Amino acid sequence: MSHTAIDKVLFEAASAIRARSYSPYSNFAVGAAILADDGQVYAGCNIENAAFPQGNCAEASAISAMIAAGAKRIKRIYVVGNGAAPVTPCGGCRQRIREFADLDIEIISHGVDGEPLICTLEHLLPHSFGPEYLSR
Ligand code: THU
Repeated sequence: MSHTAIDKVLFEAASAIRARSYSPYSNFAVGAAILADDGQVYAGCNIENAAFPQGNCAEASAISAMIAAGAKRIKRIYVVGNGAAPVTPCGGCRQRIREFADLDIEIISHGVDGEPLICTLEHLLPHSFGPEYLSR
């Protein structure tokens, strides 16, 4: 499938699950969708709670769904959040993605409206630390 075709699938999956976001504290609803190494799409939304720092980001939820289903690697990931400006993964989620992805995969950040920002993981998380450091 071409990037254009898979991005349509990922955008629709991220947008659909974004509608299920539980974000009453920030009112900032985010959806994420992963194309995994098994060819399937795994999606997640942000889930907040009254103890604010304990919330889950959409990317973390999507990674949970991927791992729980038995897939191993992120091949492409799409993030959709409020507004027109692209919603890029937070610093913590860049590291979470790093655990399960090669540095050259593309992360597509999207507002609900507007144009997407397409960046490699290496661009969003330069000089990163990863699991290979622990096996040296
Ligand atoms: N959030 C995500 O889920 N993913 C991002 O990439 C950026 C931020 C969530 C966390 C919190 O629930 C809300 O957006 C506001 O920060």
